[in-house]
Amino acid sequence: MTKEYFSHKHLLGIQGLHPPEIQEILDLSDRYVEQNRGGDKKQSSLRGRTVINLFYESSTRTRTSFELAGKRLGADVINMQVSASSVNKGETLIDTAMTLNAMHADILCVRHPDSGAVKLLSQKVNCAVINGGDGSHEHPTQALLDALTIRRRKGRLGGLTVAICGDVLHSRVARSNIYLLNTMGARVRLVAPRTLLPAQAQRLGVEVFHDMREGLADCDVVMMLRVQNERMKGSFIPSIREYFRFFGLDYEKLACAKPDAMVMHPGPMNRGVEIDSDLADDVERSVIREQVEMGVAVRMACFDILARNLAGA
Ligand code: CP
Repeated sequence: MTKEYFSHKHLLGIQGLHPPEIQEILDLSDRYVEQNRGGDKKQSSLRGRTVINLFYESSTRTRTSFELAGKRLGADVINMQVSASSVNKGETLIDTAMTLNAMHADILCVRHPDSGAVKLLSQKVNCAVINGGDGSHEHPTQALLDALTIRRRKGRLGGLTVAICGDVLHSRVARSNIYLLNTMGARVRLVAPRTLLPAQAQRLGVEVFHDMREGLADCDVVMMLRVQNERMKGSFIPSIREYFRFFGLDYEKLACAKPDAMVMHPGPMNRGVEIDSDLADDVERSVIREQVEMGVAVRMACFDILARNLAGA
């Protein structure tokens, strides 16, 4: 019997997790990758459990993969249509969550535009809560699936140099990845215009670059970020054309990284803005589709572990 390390009730963020906890989730995810590639994808470890997706922001990958993950483990999965719910009549996040809690949900997967909203909610309910992305704070399952993708390709996380490029300021994906990669012993570089970096970014334990060619030099992994127009109030970039010229990833800039450097993007992509369209589709360099595949396995592993912790509580 393997020792279990992740004993938390919720998965709200990567910050504060220890290497064995992250490793446990990744190891279990590896097993689910193999199961998902086999003929019989379904099992019953979450039979009798109820998973509810409560997404206050749009999502394709995260919401769908939470749903698929729950169904593959035998749970009953409900997708709340926030736009067609009593949220429209003014019901608050907390009242909505407490209503779902009263129906004996076991796991709530929540995405919300406000940083900290998911943690607040977790303090009001009995069930386990997974953060599916809160404002520009954290997106823990994205960082876990990114780590799984890297580890399967490179065989390790420790010692790798990872460049996270683009709109870091608004990115919960960047924050969760910085925490995870630092915890697991990778070297993290941020490559971005000054307008798209948080104040005192160096305090996150990263190296900061404002030039793509310098920031990508000898990197093992190049992680591009979406330009998040919906979170920008005011002008952060001069024009799309200028942004792509200086900060968009194309073959010429990628040539500065190691010859076997892998290209990542959490999706959805702005093709021709932060990444060249041909490069994004180039399976010799880009692992973007693999990231989506890993998302299902990672979310199955998170459900599995949190359900076991609920049973042991
Ligand atoms: N990467 C990510 O969170 O994608 P979605 O917004 O489609 O869930």
